Amino acid sequence: MNILLIGGGGREHALAWKISQSPQLSQLYIAPGNPGTAQCGTNIDIKTSDFEALGQFALQRKVDIVVVGPEDPLANGIVDYFASIDELQQIPLIGPSQGGARLESSKDFAKSFMMKYGVPTARYATFGKNEVEQGFAFLSKLKAPYVLKADGLAAGKGVIISENLDEAKTTLNEMLQGKFGKASSKVVIEEYLEGIEVSVFVLTDGTTYKLLPEAKDYKRIDDGDEGPNTGGMGAVSPVPFADKEFMQKVCTRIIEPTLAGLNSEEIPYKGFIFFGLMNCSGEPYVIEYNVRMGDPETEAVMTRLNADLIDLFKGVALGKLHECSCEISPLTAVTVVAVSGGYPGEYESGKIVKTNLILDNSSQLFHAGTKIDAEGKLVTAGGRVFALTALANSIDEAQTKAYQALEQISFDGKYYRHDIGNDLKCQNCRNQEPRQLRRLE
Ligand code: AMP
Ligand code: GLY
Repeated sequence: MNILLIGGGGREHALAWKISQSPQLSQLYIAPGNPGTAQCGTNIDIKTSDFEALGQFALQRKVDIVVVGPEDPLANGIVDYFASIDELQQIPLIGPSQGGARLESSKDFAKSFMMKYGVPTARYATFGKNEVEQGFAFLSKLKAPYVLKADGLAAGKGVIISENLDEAKTTLNEMLQGKFGKASSKVVIEEYLEGIEVSVFVLTDGTTYKLLPEAKDYKRIDDGDEGPNTGGMGAVSPVPFADKEFMQKVCTRIIEPTLAGLNSEEIPYKGFIFFGLMNCSGEPYVIEYNVRMGDPETEAVMTRLNADLIDLFKGVALGKLHECSCEISPLTAVTVVAVSGGYPGEYESGKIVKTNLILDNSSQLFHAGTKIDAEGKLVTAGGRVFALTALANSIDEAQTKAYQALEQISFDGKYYRHDIGNDLKCQNCRNQEPRQLRRLE
C-alpha cells in the first residue's frame, strides 16, 4: 500500500511512525512532513492547502489512501475536491467532507447538532453581529464563569472564559466586532461545566467505529495548570477515571448518537472523531468535536495501539471496519512536550538542537516544530518543538522515563512542564469528585 499523509507536526510524526510499522506498507509520503517524519517515509514539499498538487502527486505515485492529519484541509474541503475530480474519485481519504468537518469548523453547527441528537452538552445560545443586546441579556441570566466561543476556527484561541459579567460583555462585543476575524462573526455563549477533561477518539467508516485509547491533555503552559492555554503541553493515556462505566456512557450517550446523527443528516463520515469531553461527577458532556486526532494526544495514543493502522484505514475505506481488530496495550503512555521559550506568545526559532538521546523501544521522540537548516543542522522551527513519549507499567515509571529522556535534548530556551500525569497518580482519582455541576437557572 502507498500512503500519503498530510500535515507536518507532532501528530503527523506519530501517525507516520505507526503507519511505517505496518507490514502492508510499500511507500509512505508525508506532505510536507518534518525531520521526524523523514525517518518514517519520504517528505514531499507540497503545502497542505494545495489540493491540486496533492491530487496530482497521489495519482502519479499511485497512492492507495490519503490520511489527513490537521483540520484546515478538511474544513477547506480536500475530501470534496478529490470527489469532484474524475481521476481522483477512486482514492479514499481518511477524514470527513467539508459538511462533516463542520462539527469542528462551526461551534454553532456542532451545538445545534448535539441538541438535535440528544448528545449531552452545555446549554447555549448563539449571537450574530446585530445581536449584542440579546447576548448581554443572555449573559446576565448565567452565573460566572462565562464561556464565549468564536463560531469558526481560530487556531485553538477562540474560547474565552471570563469570571466577571462586565468583562464577558466587553469580550462578546469585541468578538462580534471581529476580534477573531470572520471566525467570531457569530459567538456561542454557553453554560460553564465544572469537571475534569478527557479526550476520546474513534475511527469510523460511517457505520461502525473503533474506540482508540483515550487521553488526558495538559493545555496550560505552566505546572499546576497555570498560565495561558497552549496547543497542549503533554498527554497521558489511559486516563484512570475514564473507567469501564464512564466509557460505556460515552459510547451509548455520545459516540453512537453522534454517528446516528451524521447518518440522519446524510453526512458520510470516514475518519477520526475526537470528542473533547468533560467528566462532570461521572457524567460525560461534550465540550467540542474535532474531526481529526489531537496533538499531543496522538503521540501518546499511537504508542498504545497494537493494531495495524493501515489495516484500520483499509477497513474505513472499504466500509469494513467491523472486520478489523483494534488491540490496545494495557501499558501507560506519558507524553511531555518541549516548547520554545516564550510560547504560546512570541518565541524565537532556528535554535540548534543538541541531543545524545538513546531510546529503547518503549520511548519515542516525535518532532513537532523542527527543520534542517541550510547547513544541514537540526534546528527549532515552531512553538512546540518535540513530544517525548514513554511507555511503561505505571504513570510513575513512564513519567520518570520521559523526563530522563527529555533531559538529553537541549536547545536554547527549552521549556516543559514538570507535572504531566501527577494529577492522575492518586490511588482513588477514579473517584475524584469535581465540584457540583452548575446549571442555567
Ligand atoms: P474548546 O476549544 O471548545 O475545547 O475550549 C477550550 C477549552 O475551554 C476547553 O478545553 C475547556 O478547558 C474550556 N471550556 C470550553 N467550554 C467549556 C465549558 N462549557 N465549561 C467549562 N470549560 C470549558
Ligand atoms: N490537544 C488538543 C487538540 O489537539 O485540539
